[in-house]
Amino acid sequence: GTTLGAAAAEKGRYFGAAVAAGRLGDGTYTTILNREFNSVTAENEMKMDATEPNQGQFTFTNGDRIVNHAISRGMKVRGHTLAWHAQQPGWMQRMEGSALRSALVNHITRVASYYRGKIHSWDVVNEAFADGGSGGRRDSNLQRTGNDWIEVAFRTARAADPGAKLCYNDYNTDGVNAKSTGIYNMVRDFKARGVPIDCVGFQSHLTNSAPSDYQANLQRFADLGVDVQITELDISGANQANAFGTVTRACLAVARCTGITVWGIRDSDSWRTGQNPLLFDNSGNKKAAYTAVLDALNGG
Ligand code: G3I
Repeated sequence: GTTLGAAAAEKGRYFGAAVAAGRLGDGTYTTILNREFNSVTAENEMKMDATEPNQGQFTFTNGDRIVNHAISRGMKVRGHTLAWHAQQPGWMQRMEGSALRSALVNHITRVASYYRGKIHSWDVVNEAFADGGSGGRRDSNLQRTGNDWIEVAFRTARAADPGAKLCYNDYNTDGVNAKSTGIYNMVRDFKARGVPIDCVGFQSHLTNSAPSDYQANLQRFADLGVDVQITELDISGANQANAFGTVTRACLAVARCTGITVWGIRDSDSWRTGQNPLLFDNSGNKKAAYTAVLDALNGG
């Protein structure tokens, strides 16, 4: 393949980018998006603060701009995200207990129903595990509603959009460590008890290199019977191109690694200001990291 999307498709995978609705009017940006990528994730527009700014009032205008751009061009859409401790609207930040639990269920039902049939994979729950050595849950208002909030979120999403793959998504889970093992144990438990979960997203916000056990970590989750996806890839540092190649080859080596998403298009579009962690430079030129990914997708 001569583009990321075409080369990934030849390997039965997608290659996506995080997209900001406000940049779709930028011709350089949109030209690269349409040429190279066959999947998109809304960088912010489908989060809880964006879709339910006031309780019970839903706003899909900016999400729709991204979804419509993608679907009209045959691109897949990853939904991001139905439940997260961050980027909650103010009214939700101030809620707790059973009222918050009800509001969460209503939010998931309304958003997933609105987009039913258009979403390839939903990040149902984002970043619910703690950093560090505990392997346990992160404290949050959602966690304090009861440890079952994650499985309730997944069951609610399944009911609202039975055709979407339902993912758990997190960061600092890219190698075998206490945090990734905590998530591994949750996924194993969900599969054993019939809680609907189809995929795990590995954000892969990396510096210099991937962990040496990156592929083994993907594989151990795949062996639980879920797909794995690289969902927010960006890599800073001097070894950038090599590291992008390594991550791409790891995904290709794991049969259930179904696709890769980079978290932005040009370096100037990245949330990691000044770190230049993406595949295209500020002018939209292909970087060495781009060539490393394309070569890896093509089997080099
Ligand atoms: O849109 C407002 C603008 O109106 C306002 O003037 C400006 C002033 O701060 O803020 C703008 O919103 C910002 C938004 O990005 C859009 O640019 C928010 O402040 C800023 O917090 C927000 O950052 C996003 C961040 O998530 C929030 O947590 C990043 O763009 C986005 O790339 C980042 O993405 C996350 C994933 O969702 C989850 N995983 C980690 C990843 C990186 O942090």
